[in-house]
Amino acid sequence: MSSMGAFQCGFFSLFFYFTAVSSSSSSLHPLAADSAMKHRNHTGISEFRLINRRSLLQCPEVNPYLQITVNHANSTLSDEEYVTVNVTGILIPSKFKWVAMITPSSSDVSSYPLSKALYAQTGDLRDLPLLRHYPVKAQYLSNDPDYLSCRKKECKQSNDDGVCLVTTCSASLSFHVINLRTDIEFVLFTGGFVTPCVLKRTSAVSFANPKQPLYGHLSSIDSTGTSMRVTWISGDGGAQQVQYKNGSSQTSQVTTFSQDDMCSSAIPSPAKDFGWHDPGYIHSAVMTGLQPSTTYTYKYGSDSAGWSNQIQFRTPPAGGGSDELRFLAFGDMGKAPKDASVEHYIQPGSISVIDAMTEEVNSGKVDSIFHIGDISYATGFLVEWDFFLHLITPLASHVSYMTATGNHERDYVDSGSVYVTPDSGGECGVPYETYFQMPTPAKDKPWYSIEQGSVHFTVISTEHDWSKDSEQYLWMKNDMASVDRSRTPWLVFTGHRPMYTSSTGVFSVDYRFIDAVEPLLLDNKVDLILFGHVHNYERTCSVYQSKCTAFPFKDQDGIDVYDHRNYSAPVQAVIGMAGFTLDGFPDDVKDWSLIRISKFGYLRGLATRQELKLEFVNAQTKLVEDSFRITR
Ligand SMILES: [Fe+2]
Repeated sequence: MSSMGAFQCGFFSLFFYFTAVSSSSSSLHPLAADSAMKHRNHTGISEFRLINRRSLLQCPEVNPYLQITVNHANSTLSDEEYVTVNVTGILIPSKFKWVAMITPSSSDVSSYPLSKALYAQTGDLRDLPLLRHYPVKAQYLSNDPDYLSCRKKECKQSNDDGVCLVTTCSASLSFHVINLRTDIEFVLFTGGFVTPCVLKRTSAVSFANPKQPLYGHLSSIDSTGTSMRVTWISGDGGAQQVQYKNGSSQTSQVTTFSQDDMCSSAIPSPAKDFGWHDPGYIHSAVMTGLQPSTTYTYKYGSDSAGWSNQIQFRTPPAGGGSDELRFLAFGDMGKAPKDASVEHYIQPGSISVIDAMTEEVNSGKVDSIFHIGDISYATGFLVEWDFFLHLITPLASHVSYMTATGNHERDYVDSGSVYVTPDSGGECGVPYETYFQMPTPAKDKPWYSIEQGSVHFTVISTEHDWSKDSEQYLWMKNDMASVDRSRTPWLVFTGHRPMYTSSTGVFSVDYRFIDAVEPLLLDNKVDLILFGHVHNYERTCSVYQSKCTAFPFKDQDGIDVYDHRNYSAPVQAVIGMAGFTLDGFPDDVKDWSLIRISKFGYLRGLATRQELKLEFVNAQTKLVEDSFRITR
């Protein structure tokens, strides 16, 4: 379906392209610039991201002293460590030298004739792409403050009088490395990102245990609070186990996905092509026989592949069975490097938000988490899923981490997504659905509902057909109509793209979505609607068809209270402020818009049978900057 949404995302990508690349595109050959334009739709194009569109030049520099080495604690790499890459013997420190981390180490950084035909169809008639496999991350040597001024000098050649004839300089860079299963290598380039050529490479460095089971994360499979799914990654495809609750164990179901599962169009997608990285094996097992709202421990793995640590986790309250639910919710979080590297797509607020939420989880005051779309922003660069899973482990290994799909997980041309954008980079939801196995009806039908405590959550996909009488529409209609409000008095509806946002232009709303779905929300007396996609926090009045049907009153603490004993319409909030570069607000304030905050943070929810209390928490200060209550 061609749509306004497609235009929005395309425009967004174009905007990003122009802002990110305009400084460099003037130096590109016209055919390369043309190619860059054609590839602009791979969301998040940056100068770094375009390096694989360059011809690999022959380096003019001949320097017998040049060396690149990688220093790490042991002969092989642990599952997470910082390694130091040293470049020595540099004759002239230039700001154009940079180091890329690549994996697998065998990745070809020379010409690759077979890809010529592949790229010809894209209109890129230049010579071959630089790296057949995209680098994981990269840093300019100038990240070392001592490099350009040559503070680390070495004399390489002296005359008989001891006068130094050849002085060289060096640089050291720190790279954060996690177990990506395939061995890694560092490559020294010069020529910047625009006209790069390879000077030197390190030898390959392997991980001590490429099979190590890692990145375990939890999700609920139903509303009983008595079962929890744990999903983890390993380089080993043999069945493994989760051991839990003093002697119980379950054997994992093992799956994976291949390059063939990625989608593409006339233009090759990053996922199917230069962004591909082997995901290893995805193991998943359901721990059963648990009690709701109870703390247990588990570990996963096998004797041959290795075991995770013992991890403590908490089951959520059963639907209708507990008085209290504490949850966190947010959208659009993504990831960022834990070193000074550039990567293809960085969400600058993600680490601060994860750190703040980790504190809450560690304090034991969180029952479950809802991440409502735009999950990792790997968008076809598969190693970035590993980095994302690594980052959320302190959260998702301890409590249920429930997700909804967003445009950056699902959308691609000719793939059946509602919005015909290439925002998933060719992933088309396959990695997302494999890593985050939700209680959905079937593959590529990522909608579900779940009840925890006094809340019924209806989770939809805004990226799949929601038009009247579509399968998803009928499902959500039936789901909401079947909620027993005496069991779960609160009905929370969530998905990715918003119905109400002050942000305009690239993020204006899809009125077809509103026309189709908003009446259902009113008919079923939905209390709260949470969406992401727009990167800020905004809360509405009780709103229907862009008109306030009621306003909250202030309680004695000055907190807004929506009294749903006199229900008139849902309250809506945009919560896409968890990592992606923030969006501001226009000066014009809509009648229905009550609170607008453009800061990184998350939503904290506390549901009892009497009230649903929500707080926007600023991730930097940990302070609550908005709170409201819905009562009945
Ligand atoms: Fe989005």
